[in-house]
Amino acid sequence: MTAQASKQDALEPVAVGTPVARTEGPLKVRGAAAYAFEVPADDPLFLHLVQSTIAKGAVRTVDASPALAHEGVVAVLDHTNAPRLETGENAELQVLQTPDVTFRGQVVAVVVAESAEAAREGARLVVVDYDVQEHKAELRGGDEDSYAPEKVNPAFPTDSSVGDMDRALEAAAVVVDETYTTPYEHNNPMEPHATTARWAADADEGPRLVLDASTQSVHGVISELAPILGLEAEEIRVRSPYVGGGFGSKGLPHAHDVVAALAARANPGRPVRIALTRQQMFALAGYRTATIQRFQLAAGADGTLLGINHEVLEQTSALKEFAEQTAVATRHMYAAPNRHTSHRLVTLDVAVPSWMRAPGEMPGMAAHEMAMDELAVACGIDPVELRVRNEPEVDPESGQPFGHRKLVECLRTGAERFGWAERDPRPGARLDGDWLVGLGVASATYPYYRQPANTARIEALTGGRYAVSIGAADIGTGALTVLGQIAADALGIGVADVDVHLGDSSLPPATVAGGSAGTASWGSAIVEAARTFRKEHGASPGVGDVSTGSPADNPAMDTHSLHSFGAQFVELGVNVWTGEPRLRRMLGVFSAGRIINPTTARSQLIGGMVMGLGGGLLEESVRDPRFGHVVTQDLASYHVASHADVRDVEAVWLDETDPLTNPMGSRGIGEIGIVGAAAAVANAAWHATGIRVRDLPVTADRFLDLPADLPALAGHPSGGA
Ligand code: MOS
Repeated sequence: MTAQASKQDALEPVAVGTPVARTEGPLKVRGAAAYAFEVPADDPLFLHLVQSTIAKGAVRTVDASPALAHEGVVAVLDHTNAPRLETGENAELQVLQTPDVTFRGQVVAVVVAESAEAAREGARLVVVDYDVQEHKAELRGGDEDSYAPEKVNPAFPTDSSVGDMDRALEAAAVVVDETYTTPYEHNNPMEPHATTARWAADADEGPRLVLDASTQSVHGVISELAPILGLEAEEIRVRSPYVGGGFGSKGLPHAHDVVAALAARANPGRPVRIALTRQQMFALAGYRTATIQRFQLAAGADGTLLGINHEVLEQTSALKEFAEQTAVATRHMYAAPNRHTSHRLVTLDVAVPSWMRAPGEMPGMAAHEMAMDELAVACGIDPVELRVRNEPEVDPESGQPFGHRKLVECLRTGAERFGWAERDPRPGARLDGDWLVGLGVASATYPYYRQPANTARIEALTGGRYAVSIGAADIGTGALTVLGQIAADALGIGVADVDVHLGDSSLPPATVAGGSAGTASWGSAIVEAARTFRKEHGASPGVGDVSTGSPADNPAMDTHSLHSFGAQFVELGVNVWTGEPRLRRMLGVFSAGRIINPTTARSQLIGGMVMGLGGGLLEESVRDPRFGHVVTQDLASYHVASHADVRDVEAVWLDETDPLTNPMGSRGIGEIGIVGAAAAVANAAWHATGIRVRDLPVTADRFLDLPADLPALAGHPSGGA
């Protein structure tokens, strides 16, 4: 299959590429968009979870009587009286089925009450007694108990080797051999995980169970929940028209969704509502695992890479395996004839990790790009030039041609716009008042995914309008708006004449808003449905004419290495007296295929960069291994980047259309903005101070003892020497 033969039949862009305002924006700013916890419900019951206070063991007894005596409390469900579930592969969802406790914070009971307040007070009053076992909740380097998972998320090989790394190390003029660590991070979308559930009171009522769930995938919730509830897929309906962020944490249902279904089943006809508290989200909604990464770069004196070795140690949970694909991006990033990547997991008695924005690429590229900066310094080469010098001709592991690799253009464009040429290569050479100032760069990458299993339906309405329906999810990204633009161009009509319907499992099946693949996957289905519609109904269809369409497989996905690329530039100040690191400027330049809506795309890319800035400077979930849980479980102690941290952040992109990916020529933009950002921060911190931070995040305490010989500090009252 040649590149020519696998070109996607392109869409003629008219609305696509224009900054259409967010369709549902007015509803959201007026508070008229009902989120999962707020959907209208008659006489609802409220749930509050009781969580284990031990990390490992078993529930011996649950004394519900004090809770049941409290006014408004209706019931307390625990493993002895909760409705039974069918067994299933996702152990995280087997809630209240056994007395076993596998992490601190696990759901051991749920209080059902007439008000949210009564439920919460009831949960406080439930007395749980445990048989306690020894637990292990600390990830340490050199852990003897690590193992190789069968694959890493979602289905990549665990290990990969090309050539002979040992010989590369022997032949190298310069070797970087360092260990980098990244911390636990929690997704923390603004809208907490929430579900309103209703079990039908009688069998003739339609679906047995209706869930209004805050989810990235309505059909995904059904495929996870239907089997364990003993229902056919058609017997559950899931709706999520508005979702206040997810970042992966709403990509799969979690325990609270199951609890809502069980409590609804126990109270047929009555809606039940549950929302996780911010603190509960630190145990029950997934998170990014911490990593310990050894990086070896073997290079010639001119910086040409001879070998790359990336060995990752990370953790998973006793309840369910999740293997973050931390070293996978390394496999296609830079040219080097000898290469090795591996992942090892340590099983801990902790909450279940899962997807968080750019799982794998975010922590892995943080380490890779910090190591590249060290190599640039060791070779005396500009860090932008080092990356350009190691640009591969073809995918260095698979040997496949790249579809549309524009990393060098991103680096060069960014360097030009950021004023990189004026950068003094010496660290600690620039002072602005009491702030040492440094510039850092890092590359970004994210794979192109397109999920085939998507169907869209198009129906002609009166007045020349069209309804476009697909069970997709807009989690705040702008998907609703962007799909309208794609549909308009596919039908050859104006954006204002399209009504897009999504966020409901009664609409045609759609895959998850994840893997930065939503627009590509759903948009391809819409284009196909529009083509079918025109074929079946011609240019002047009758009202009520309907067609559906699903995209064919894209052969280029098998023949080409398809990825987005980017370059992150950071100017960081480090206070001479306090060590405080502060962002001064940040620029991201991205190559992500055609940008369908510059307004929503810019927001997505900047959002990713801000989250990456948080990963560079602030975000760290601190686990207390004595108890097994995360102690920084609120936004006062888990710091995300907020307005005062952000200041001047800009995202731009190359003007391009990818001929191999899909009819829109797009790739994906949800995740690449976070990739590389933390490394650019750490590299800028080195340039400001000469201090190399290899353990994220980059915090003030690292800079309390500045090197004595920084050029900019000669004569400064802080001493400098
Ligand atoms: Mo994203 S972590 O694939 O929702």
